[in-house]
Amino acid sequence: MNTSPVKLFAQAKARREKLAMISLYDAPSAALSADAGADILLVGDSMGNAILGHDGTVPVTMEAMIHHTGAVVRGVKNSSRPDVPVVSDISFGGFATVERAVENASSLMRAGASAIKLEGAGESALSAARILVEMGVPVMGHLGYTPQSALRFEGVVQGKTGEAATRLLDGSKRLEEAGCFAVVLEVVPTEVAKRATSELSISTIGIGAGPHCDAQVLVWHDLVGFSSDKPFRFVKRYADVYATMKDASASFVEEVRAGDFPAPEHGWNMDEEEYRRWEDGE
Ligand code: KIV
Repeated sequence: MNTSPVKLFAQAKARREKLAMISLYDAPSAALSADAGADILLVGDSMGNAILGHDGTVPVTMEAMIHHTGAVVRGVKNSSRPDVPVVSDISFGGFATVERAVENASSLMRAGASAIKLEGAGESALSAARILVEMGVPVMGHLGYTPQSALRFEGVVQGKTGEAATRLLDGSKRLEEAGCFAVVLEVVPTEVAKRATSELSISTIGIGAGPHCDAQVLVWHDLVGFSSDKPFRFVKRYADVYATMKDASASFVEEVRAGDFPAPEHGWNMDEEEYRRWEDGE
């Protein structure tokens, strides 16, 4: 049984302990992140950009979300911390009706998720959150820059004016009332995230929202540098695995062309006597 994300966040907020969440999509990155001490993993629809070659999250299907949730859950099970909880996104359009929300959340939970995340605080998000919570599904909200609505936004930073900041704060309170156990705040001013964190009883999880949130999240590919794109300002790159992996791939290509790979130790030989008889046609 995985750790309850509801309990994990409530306890951490009460103890003022910061939690670290990593968004990722496959078994090896899940296993190594759990081994590295991540408190909770997110199978984010950011997979659209990070691994599927899209320029946004809208093309990501629920089939993809379910498929990758299974992979991440299996990765966690094979790690040294098999009870790390996994949250999964309901992808674009997946909670437009309550019936769809129930079906999609049920599929993610059957794939092994311990909670689901949905974007926005509009009527469909709130109705979905209410019914899912009533069914026993832990629900994480997501406000600020919500990539599924990217086409509606003029800029990236959300909540910059007093009016927009109040709207954001009100939205986070509606998600709390609907029963969400935490809310991601993406690319919002530090002041807004600070106030949400102190006024909400549920946890805030920041990404580009400053240091005051109860938890922080980054996409794994961003934090390890597994991309040649210029990272967003809110990303800190802790490694440059893109360069390391590119060098390794180039060395393989070079050695194959030069005939240096494979070396004798990468292959097998017949028994000498057996080989001699075979060559002699015996
Ligand atoms: O899809 C995702 O990875 C996310 C996080 C950035 C919060 O929603």
